[in-house]
Amino acid sequence: MPVILDGKKLSQEIQLEIKHTIEERRINGKKIPHLAAVLVGNDGASTTYVNSKIRLCKAVGMQSTFIHLDASTTESELLKIVHDINQNDDIDGFIVQLPLPKHINETNIIEAINPKKDVDGFHPINLGRMQLGLPAFISATPAGIVTMLERYQIETAGKHCVVIGRSNIVGTPMSILLSRNTNPGNCTVTICHSRTKNLKDICLQADIIVAALGKPEFVTADMVKEGAVVVDVGISRLDADNEKGYVIKGDVKFDEVAPKCAAISPVPGGVGLMTVVSLLMNTMKAVELNN
Ligand code: GUN
Repeated sequence: MPVILDGKKLSQEIQLEIKHTIEERRINGKKIPHLAAVLVGNDGASTTYVNSKIRLCKAVGMQSTFIHLDASTTESELLKIVHDINQNDDIDGFIVQLPLPKHINETNIIEAINPKKDVDGFHPINLGRMQLGLPAFISATPAGIVTMLERYQIETAGKHCVVIGRSNIVGTPMSILLSRNTNPGNCTVTICHSRTKNLKDICLQADIIVAALGKPEFVTADMVKEGAVVVDVGISRLDADNEKGYVIKGDVKFDEVAPKCAAISPVPGGVGLMTVVSLLMNTMKAVELNN
């Protein structure tokens, strides 16, 4: 059976480390880190994600502010709020939850965030600094995956990693991080997307697969070689006849892929939890950087 890359266990370990660091800061009279989250509208999944970010802040003793705006908020109103948070010395880091309503240009909002408070790592300055290997905020999902590979001591040097999906939030930064001369890193990376030909053949050559395309159960057993490491980034909500009214599915057909793997991350209980804890790690970095 494969090693299960247990995001729940790992995120709890890291939460405890953060909690201790915050407690030490408190004892030493240092500033308590403060994360703000802005949510525009009432999208179900986004509301769940933001609530879990705020809940985790509370669990580790971090200060948090949840700014929930009406779906009709205009771009200029949101820009004003971003500017106000940029100026607020008490807030060390903040995020604007994506996606935003269609009438708001996401790039304009991301570019308005002070890069020193951009704990999502979405600002072009942070993405550019990451590409150059300079200190930067690294987007929470790729950072969480790197932490997961590191803590589970997954060998990456010289391995062929296939990243499926080229989003700005996951696929693209992931491909950069794994190809860098670092540990984890030093992979030969192939990035695949909707126009890739022979996707199955490419996946079969992968020592490591990072599935981040957002299509439930897309990666099947016939696409995975024996002994591969599979990281599942997908979180799709599918309608279901249960109490919640939905089930969560990853991008990997876990039951048939897992027996072929050396290690695999489950959904739920994998990368998603690492993402939230990475956001807190970035906020810890922000409080050091900004004070
Ligand atoms: N939407 C999906 N993932 C994320 C994330 O990591 N940060 C923000 N702000 N929005 C998201």
